[in-house]
Amino acid sequence: MIETELLKSVVALCKRRGFIFPGSEIYGGFANTYSYGPYGVELKRIIREAWWRTFVQNREDMVGLDGPILLHPRAWEASGHVEGFNDALIDCKNCKSRFRADHLIEASVGLEVEGFTVAQINQLIVDHALVCPKCGSKDWTDARYFNLMFSTRLSKTAQGENDVAYLRPETAQAIFLDFKNIVDTMRVTVPFGVAQIGKAFRNEITPGNFIFRVIEFEQMEIEYFIRSETWETVFEEWLASMKKWCSWIGLSENRLSCSEHPKDKLSHYSKRTVDIMYDFPFGRSELYGLAYRTDYDLSRHAEYSKSKLEYTDPQTREKYVPHVVEPTFGLDRTVLALLCDAYAEELLPNGEQRTVLRFKPHMAPVKVAVFPLMKKEPLIEKARPIFDALRQHWAVQYDDSGAIGKRYRRHDEIGTPLCVTVDFQTLEDDTVTLRHRDSMEQERVSIKALASRCLEVISARS
Ligand code: GAP
Repeated sequence: MIETELLKSVVALCKRRGFIFPGSEIYGGFANTYSYGPYGVELKRIIREAWWRTFVQNREDMVGLDGPILLHPRAWEASGHVEGFNDALIDCKNCKSRFRADHLIEASVGLEVEGFTVAQINQLIVDHALVCPKCGSKDWTDARYFNLMFSTRLSKTAQGENDVAYLRPETAQAIFLDFKNIVDTMRVTVPFGVAQIGKAFRNEITPGNFIFRVIEFEQMEIEYFIRSETWETVFEEWLASMKKWCSWIGLSENRLSCSEHPKDKLSHYSKRTVDIMYDFPFGRSELYGLAYRTDYDLSRHAEYSKSKLEYTDPQTREKYVPHVVEPTFGLDRTVLALLCDAYAEELLPNGEQRTVLRFKPHMAPVKVAVFPLMKKEPLIEKARPIFDALRQHWAVQYDDSGAIGKRYRRHDEIGTPLCVTVDFQTLEDDTVTLRHRDSMEQERVSIKALASRCLEVISARS
């Protein structure tokens, strides 16, 4: 399928089949916000739970946290976000399109402008007579830096303290703020990690590409606390774990790659960053990130909060500030990558076209669908207990409307790996038809053995 068509088809399927809806649609939409519909919610839940099982539950060196979205405003000064979480933006006066100035200059002049002042950026735009990619005009506003954090106002405190609060642009900082609480309460020993899943908010200048870059999204982040001298090994171990995760959830190896950030383009807190890239339909783009944040965050929060954020080695009693390796995963980008990877349109031997989401069975939002061949007794009476028994294990749907072929197509479209049909033979010998999504092959299985046969297909082989 042509890549540019792929995104359109995925967006259409998401809307049509209840995965993802445009936000505030009845009001004409609210740009770059989305609702996750019933199947989208299920897919997200499966990803979150699999991530937590993989990186927290199945490891002895990890604990969890659920910190607040609103942190003390000083925390964002300490983290560097108030001063440095900026993009330079520029508007075309003619067509009113807005661009990130760095992207525009990079694309037209091939020059990296990270760290340039606004005056230097404006000069470059004049010197190179940059034209608007949308309308060809050269009539630009001045470039200006724009902080990507959303701010909100609290009701004034009795002390008349600063009433500005920021919606967190990353979940990471809450972990640093609770570092001491975790060390004091959990008997953790370095190396150990703290994991958190939650919403983050960024007032992106150039959001877009469906749920790839949005203003409200979900992150799954880990701050892994280490002795500084071990960082290189730990970094490689995490990179390997992240790659393993990508393949376990079902992303195609040939669409994945790594991109090392050049030393002069690293974020203010990082000594090394590698992005895991995915070949989305709109091009190769960041899926996840891995950064060595040194002791930057803990040291800055210690300085700004005047709290001691140290760790005492239980054996040697040595006190030190641990360093941090941070694997970070975007949940919405995971959803998008899985949808793009799974989407297929196929021409069947009978000339019919089918759309199918080829999710790995363990990632599919609905695992099994149960159909009585006809909406009639005694088929219904036989099918309902099978449905009730299977849904004790997984998300299972009962579907009795329309021809069987139509029901198969409906479930192919949402990626259901198995369909069970109760037919007249079932009434005689207690067997059902089990139909496999990808091969479309059917097998006859006894009701007694049905749950374990389904489990065989659905359980993940890592
Ligand atoms: N704590 C480090 C951090 O936040 P980041 O690379 O800015 O690093 C981490 O973000 C991940 O969050 C990205 O790899 C991506 O998956 C996701 N992400 C970032 N901005 C996003 C946005 N505007 N919309 C959707 N996902 C986003």
